[in-house]
Amino acid sequence: MEYIELNTKQKIPALGIGTYRSPKGEVGKAIKIALETGFRHIDCAYFYGNEDEIGEILKETFDQGKIKREDVWITSKLWNIFHDPKDVQEGCEKTIKDLQCGYLDLFLIHWPVCFEKRNDLDLLPRKDENTMSTVDIPLIETWHAMEKLVEIGLVKSIGISNFTKERIEEIYEKAKIKPVINQIENHPYLQQEELCEYCRKNGIQITAYSPLGTSHFKKENPSLLQDPIILEIAKKHNVSPAQILIKWQIQRGNTVIPKAVKPEHIKDNFECLKVKLTEEDMKQIATLDRHFRFVNPLNFWNIDVYGEANKK
Ligand SMILES: NC(=O)c1ccc[n+]([C@@H]2O[C@H](COP(=O)([O-])OP(=O)(O)OC[C@H]3O[C@@H](n4cnc5c(N)ncnc54)[C@H](OP(=O)(O)O)[C@@H]3O)[C@@H](O)[C@H]2O)c1
Repeated sequence: MEYIELNTKQKIPALGIGTYRSPKGEVGKAIKIALETGFRHIDCAYFYGNEDEIGEILKETFDQGKIKREDVWITSKLWNIFHDPKDVQEGCEKTIKDLQCGYLDLFLIHWPVCFEKRNDLDLLPRKDENTMSTVDIPLIETWHAMEKLVEIGLVKSIGISNFTKERIEEIYEKAKIKPVINQIENHPYLQQEELCEYCRKNGIQITAYSPLGTSHFKKENPSLLQDPIILEIAKKHNVSPAQILIKWQIQRGNTVIPKAVKPEHIKDNFECLKVKLTEEDMKQIATLDRHFRFVNPLNFWNIDVYGEANKK
């Protein structure tokens, strides 16, 4: 496994496994296979609704003693309804309880968006059919509550997800603990080089999500796994297109968290560590950028996280 050193001096495995839309009844088995295959980094979130099943497998694995808790990097994320500083610890503790892992290696603010917290803990509270029920809580207040989680030992490090440069600037200077990671959508069709460069300069590691172009959303979306250039490079190296897409991230210095539940996908993805892309391959893939987002809250929450509404 390759590791990347963070601004906290912690070492994170460059390759992890994602769990969004990994269905209950399948996700536990997927994590078991991933750990047996060699994965030591799991990307979770309260919102994914499957942390309890992942927790069962983690407990079983650590109880058996073959793999120790400290050898597995576990990330989770604060859901949007827990942004109020008085709710942040609750949001974190629910996750740790479900994952049965004692502490988190990394806890991220999932989105720079705060939803109303209702008594029934509705994860997607709506005002009406087209409008989410949002609340105005400055990100820096949520961030300071995240810092307390480190101080009391619930989490080893804290970071952000889906933050643009502008949102990072809202917290960066005032932060006592700087974010270690910004987890963002990243793949050849959405390379976000400017944001990546800004993060690198400020000691914030990039984790690439949806590196394979994700499995959901619209059918008419372009397919990264069938892109002719990716297919050509995969053929040349005699490996799968997924391996090219994942290794491309690692060779750019990003950590990457492809999601998979099929055993053959999990194993295929892990094998990417053996692939070595040439400088020419890297350059060729870089030409594929087309600023295409698979995951945009403008489409599913009608919230303009990326300041794109006026550009449409
Ligand atoms: N922070 C955020 O807001 C955010 C947003 C989105 C995602 N994420 C994280 O990033 C992870 C990855 O992103 P994602 O789930 O959107 O999509 P992704 O990893 O780009 O794609 C997952 C899809 O690719 C398939 N796949 C996996 N390995 C494959 C292989 N070797 N060959 C062919 N197909 C393969 C999977 O199939 P099977 O599952 O059937 O094996 C699944 O359908 C998520 O699971 C989540 O942990 C975070």
